[in-house]
Amino acid sequence: MCGIIGIIAKDKSQHLASITYECLQRLEYRGYDSVGIASLGKKGIEVRKAKGSVEEVVKKFNALSMTGEIFLGHTRWATHGEPSDYNAHPHMDCSNSIAVVHNGTIRNFMELKEELESLGHKFKSETDTEVIPHLIEEFKKRGMSTFSAFKSAINTIKGTYAVLALIKDDYKIYFAKKFNPLVIGIGDKANFISSDIPSFLPYTKTIITIQNDDIGYLSSNEVYIENNDIPVNVSERIRQIDWDASAASKEGFEYYMLKEIYETPEVVMDTLYGLKNDTNIDKIIDKINSSKRIIVVAAGTSYHAGLYFSLLLQRNGYTTIPVVASEYYNIKTGPDDSVIAISQSGETMDVIMAIRKFKENNSSIISLTNVIESAISRESDFKIYTRAGPEIGVAATKTFTTQIAALTFIWSKIVDKKINFESIGDVIRSSLDKSGEARRIGEELAQKENAYYLGRGISLPLAMEGSLKIKEIAYLHAEAYPAGESKHGPIALISNGFPVVFVNTGEFTEELQSNVQEMKARGALTYGISINSTLNTHKEILLKVSDENLAVFALSPIIQLIAYYAALARGNNPDRPRNLAKTVTVE
Ligand code: F6R
Repeated sequence: MCGIIGIIAKDKSQHLASITYECLQRLEYRGYDSVGIASLGKKGIEVRKAKGSVEEVVKKFNALSMTGEIFLGHTRWATHGEPSDYNAHPHMDCSNSIAVVHNGTIRNFMELKEELESLGHKFKSETDTEVIPHLIEEFKKRGMSTFSAFKSAINTIKGTYAVLALIKDDYKIYFAKKFNPLVIGIGDKANFISSDIPSFLPYTKTIITIQNDDIGYLSSNEVYIENNDIPVNVSERIRQIDWDASAASKEGFEYYMLKEIYETPEVVMDTLYGLKNDTNIDKIIDKINSSKRIIVVAAGTSYHAGLYFSLLLQRNGYTTIPVVASEYYNIKTGPDDSVIAISQSGETMDVIMAIRKFKENNSSIISLTNVIESAISRESDFKIYTRAGPEIGVAATKTFTTQIAALTFIWSKIVDKKINFESIGDVIRSSLDKSGEARRIGEELAQKENAYYLGRGISLPLAMEGSLKIKEIAYLHAEAYPAGESKHGPIALISNGFPVVFVNTGEFTEELQSNVQEMKARGALTYGISINSTLNTHKEILLKVSDENLAVFALSPIIQLIAYYAALARGNNPDRPRNLAKTVTVE
């Protein structure tokens, strides 16, 4: 994730540099490896940017002394190109007359960059974003008006974006959105356009929503929006919000957990693009391929992601051993083994103890964490990252889905499997569209005392995650089993109305259908979360996914939403489950 902000003064006495600084601080949760500010005034465009936190960069360049009538700001969480001064946004064209900030990923940037370079454009960064100012410059050179040049640039890029552009001598902010968040704020003394409402909330509660494929511009007295070349009636998009500061940071969602579940499509795409451009990946794949055994170590939800990865690799003939971190002493590793340590926080003590032990045996440590340079990444030989942004809800949600995205990506590289990763965002979004159905199941489960979650193959780690989630936030006793194993004991508990949730990735539908019948025959109340085919449960959420390799991405938000609504129905605060800490730094 990255955070972007644009501000236009209506009242010239406004000190926009300080307002931009404040807004960037509130956006810092969206990324914190580098920061940049651009201002547009009579002397043209000035840019100050560097690697570091908002506070460090603003101090380093005395950015509060910047003047101008329009400001752009950006806080970055690297996807294309390492965190560095030159990769920090804003990016500019050759003549320094166009400055662009961007959140998202441009898929076709390599080909565009080559084409632009052949036309004489010089690039200064490794980012995908830099093609945008150069494209605008190129289209302007060909005689287009500024807005047409901006539109043509946006129509040329493929991918996801929230983009803001400043053009010299033109007192507007040009903007475009596809999937990444963007919203306008209309204030008395300044207008704003930002990744989120909380960033500008102290200045205005009047917002204008921006939708996918909107392209337009904002000035001190005008908002113009087009969608697929058709002008939008902006007055219909105006809303007044009545959030207090705490509601604002949740962006209108009742709890962080729900907000974070809804961030999943964006952060999964960020994670994948980050990995595609991670120059370490090939070395990591070689390391895994040349290892005798692959030990996957993690705790809680991260363990479920690890189990999923282990199963995938086992099917391809790899020897993988999933290890619950706190049980590390049960396994002796050696120098031919690779250890994959998975931890959202990167600080979980059980995982740290495990990797220290495995390191003593000279095993190579590969870490997957969500926090750059966390303790676990620092102690590993190879580091990879999910890019979920901070997760405030105690229960892991978006971070789990980004872990399985990263692990699916790595698996596809190891076994050379073609997967349509581009469609993951849509798969997750269509799953989120079923939240009403997830709510109904969650509310029904909330009435019960116990539940089973059953799955087979790859759906087992998902069933385990579903049962952990409902246990930790709804305080409902739930156990997960391999569906086939359920008849070897657990079925004894089944009597009238005992809830059994079946999770089906689509690979063992017939076997699961038989298990459903076994449960029904004993009076169980059966629920299905199933990909592509029905399980004939009493109640079912049926999800359509064309590539079954992506089934887990459709299932993951649903199991989380079921737990969330069960927690609400029981009157619990899902963000702060009792007895649990977000990061467990004790053994
Ligand atoms: C469950 C949950 C925990 C964590 C576990 C490991 O929702 O959040 O089970 O997954 O404590 O934490 P990390 O991934 O930070 O190592």
